[in-house]
Amino acid sequence: MIVSIINNKGGVGKTTTSINLSNCLVINGKTVLLVDADPQAHSSRGLGVRIKSEQETLKDVLSIKADQLYKLFYEKNIKDIIIHAKRRGLDLVPSDTKLSDVIEKLYRTNSLYREDFLLRCLEPVKFDYDYIIIDCPPGLGVLAINAIKASDFILIPCEMSRGSLDGIADLLRTIPKVKGEPFKKFRIFMTLVDTRYISSNKYVMRQLSSRKDKILNTKINRNEPLNRSQLSNKDIFTFSPQSKGARDYSALTKELLKLWDKDNKPPS
Ligand SMILES: Nc1ncnc2c1ncn2[C@@H]1O[C@H](COP(=O)(O)OP(=O)(O)OP(=O)(O)O)[C@@H](O)[C@H]1O
Ligand SMILES: [Mg+2]
Repeated sequence: MIVSIINNKGGVGKTTTSINLSNCLVINGKTVLLVDADPQAHSSRGLGVRIKSEQETLKDVLSIKADQLYKLFYEKNIKDIIIHAKRRGLDLVPSDTKLSDVIEKLYRTNSLYREDFLLRCLEPVKFDYDYIIIDCPPGLGVLAINAIKASDFILIPCEMSRGSLDGIADLLRTIPKVKGEPFKKFRIFMTLVDTRYISSNKYVMRQLSSRKDKILNTKINRNEPLNRSQLSNKDIFTFSPQSKGARDYSALTKELLKLWDKDNKPPS
């Protein structure tokens, strides 16, 4: 199953979730490919794998597609750029800053298929993993649209802020346009929650009340070890397995697995 972690608002925990959900899925016996679709390459760094300077990344596979529009579709296979992470069962498609140039190229492509490049790139590995997790960049640019198009399920982190709510509203207007109506295979979850901000938290939840059935029960609290684990390029289960952050991400993973395991299909 391909799962995108997306919110056009920046800094709401997309990468933190991509890294920790991927690791926790593996801890739960699943195989995972984490695709870093962000030129900031935070997920690539956050897994703590040493990436050599000559390492090819997502941009190399995407640029072949962008230049040649499927003619040489299998010339550079995504399998060639996959790196094994430290945790067995977890692989990475790394990113780098030059992915931005490829995105520019994709923008300029007139192709009918410019929203399908990532989906096409992932096809050769789609059935090699239980889950493919895509860490999306902020914004709703062509790469995010590619990720939405490729996804079987969309996971939306929501911080307790106006910007995050606005981001979700834009995203929920965009998803059906890209996927075709009705697309119900998405869930929102609250992150960076500070329980001391009682009235802000209540306000945000009220604003989302019409989407209540799409909000996961698990909330990810603001937690210092989660931030420190990112600074150390480690997942929370390696950095501080007893922390509240580890418990929260473990609960999130279990809630999602329950949802996804129903018929082994994304819920409708
Ligand atoms: N639950 C949390 N508790 C404490 N710090 C957190 C938590 N979640 C994320 N952070 C920190 O907040 C910052 C932003 O998180 P993250 O990089 O995951 O957001 P993002 O949505 O991927 O950002 P971008 O849009 O730039 O890609 C990071 O410094 C991260 O370490
Ligand atoms: Mg990020």
